[in-house]
Amino acid sequence: MCGIFGCILKNGVAAPIVHAALKRLEYRGYDSVGEAAIYKNKLFIKKDQGKIDDVHAVHNLANIPGRIALGHTRWATHGAPSQVNAHPHMDCHKQIAVVHNGIIENFAEIQRELEELGHVFRSKTDTEVIPHLIEEELKDGLPLSEAVREAVKRLEGSYAVAIISVREPNKIVCARKESPLVAGVGEHGIYCASDIPAFLPLTNKAVIIEDGEIVVLADDRYEIRRISDGNPVLREPEVIDWTPEMAEKQGYPHFMLKEIHEQPLCLRNTLRLQEQYLDLMATFLERATEVYFVAAGTSYHACLAASYMFSKVALLATHPVIASEFIEQHGKAVNIDSTILAVSQSGETADTLAAVEWARQRAATILGLTNVVGSTLTRVARAYVCQQSGPEIGVAATKTFTSQLSVLSQLALNVAKRRGKISHTQIEDLEEKLQQIPDIVATILETQEAKIRQLAEKYKDKQCFFFLGRGISSATALESRLKLLEIAYVPSIAYPAGESKHGPISLIEPGFPVVFICPKDETRKTIMGNIMEMKARGASIIAILEEGDEETKKIVDDYIEIPTGFPEVLSPIPYVIPLQLFAYYMSVERNCDPDMPRNLAKSVTVK
Ligand code: M6R
Repeated sequence: MCGIFGCILKNGVAAPIVHAALKRLEYRGYDSVGEAAIYKNKLFIKKDQGKIDDVHAVHNLANIPGRIALGHTRWATHGAPSQVNAHPHMDCHKQIAVVHNGIIENFAEIQRELEELGHVFRSKTDTEVIPHLIEEELKDGLPLSEAVREAVKRLEGSYAVAIISVREPNKIVCARKESPLVAGVGEHGIYCASDIPAFLPLTNKAVIIEDGEIVVLADDRYEIRRISDGNPVLREPEVIDWTPEMAEKQGYPHFMLKEIHEQPLCLRNTLRLQEQYLDLMATFLERATEVYFVAAGTSYHACLAASYMFSKVALLATHPVIASEFIEQHGKAVNIDSTILAVSQSGETADTLAAVEWARQRAATILGLTNVVGSTLTRVARAYVCQQSGPEIGVAATKTFTSQLSVLSQLALNVAKRRGKISHTQIEDLEEKLQQIPDIVATILETQEAKIRQLAEKYKDKQCFFFLGRGISSATALESRLKLLEIAYVPSIAYPAGESKHGPISLIEPGFPVVFICPKDETRKTIMGNIMEMKARGASIIAILEEGDEETKKIVDDYIEIPTGFPEVLSPIPYVIPLQLFAYYMSVERNCDPDMPRNLAKSVTVK
């Protein structure tokens, strides 16, 4: 997730405006920044690794001539943060500049093809294929907008791109597939951006560019066409009445809610991981004598779920370990044959890094799964994969959990294929279901949110909650408990449901709320028994169940429905969504700040 911005001013210099807009987009990514402008038919570029203020201090981003300019603030996915990997990217002859937000899945194949034609690549990014593809199309004498249209037709994956070229120096051409793109029509100029907040102080007239569209900005005009056939699309600007604060959250009252709603998009991105990275990780995992999944908080819960996935799909035993306990619990047993897969959204969690350092000194193989390319974890790991979910601002990890689970399940499937312990049909079925998850999550968000809000109103004054699940759902229970207690300050308890009768059940009295995560899987019979045990003691039961599960609906007090037919090993992804929303609405009902819970930091860099 990166931020892009472009501007054509009627008069004056664009660079200071681009610089200010990038500051407003910094929440989308901040590992590198860059600008390009056209002046007197020449392309000027400034870019570097680092936060905007730091790069500005060195390069003065407001000082580039020209009234037409692009800007980019980066959140690395392909290619570590560095000056050469920062956007804008150019063609061989430095005539075309491109900024991009998204992931180009087939870049390696296109790059190979272009290199055979003599193109020279400078960066390690997926983006750089775009200016070279356009350069190639321009050789056929096409106008810039047509060259861009032809070029983007070749791209698989997601993109919002903005392009300038000295060949047609009065235009910005943009195109969109999946990644957001919006144009702004102002008194003093015309703009394009990945988000409305980028230009909101300049204009409140916005034109939303839809998937599969290309838009040409020229002076004070814009022209939209369909990428597929070039047919024109007529769309008037709409007036946006957001305050700047609302705009940053795209109209959502809190970052947490925005991030919960981003999950379908993030999950789609996780499915675009390059196979070669997964292969490399899987090779190490397959070879290891002992595999430890090490993480803290939400990332630990993802590891716990992953241990069920690896066991059930790849028939590989793994140890999920809380990072701060790793050295005490397993430290002495770690050696050259051990493999540590450290999972950390930030890649900077001190407990996780301490465990990694311990294992590294004992010659263990270190693998990483993180959201931040360039973080300490990516530097110390032998190999790593990125969870591809973009910056998470809310302290409560939400899109982190589901994105990590999606990557870990792809890894489990990769290892399963190598070990050949389950059938091809089973693997294909799981892969197909994994592809459907983004849409399923979108459906849950669309259909269940209003009901969950009502549940939060109903239960807001309860003093304590139980979360229970069996099998892999016990990880979902733990994660849901963590969300509720950290942002709504409701002391809560989570257990594998079978454990509840070994002590915790003594807490139950009439009206005590117990949340059951009950997909119709192998644990079905026993979880029904656990529900009855709780019900017999007067508990109020809230069930997260499968659509059409009439038997469970009859015996519980409240329920949330999840689309049916989900394989057990993937179930934590859809089943956690309602409980993230429940925690969010409970926090709001209890007048807490879900984005900034007391005493917590987004990244815990102390042990
Ligand atoms: O950046 P990490 O994934 O390593 O962070 C781990 C935990 O600090 C984090 O998940 C924390 O528990 C969140 N507040 C959970 O919502």
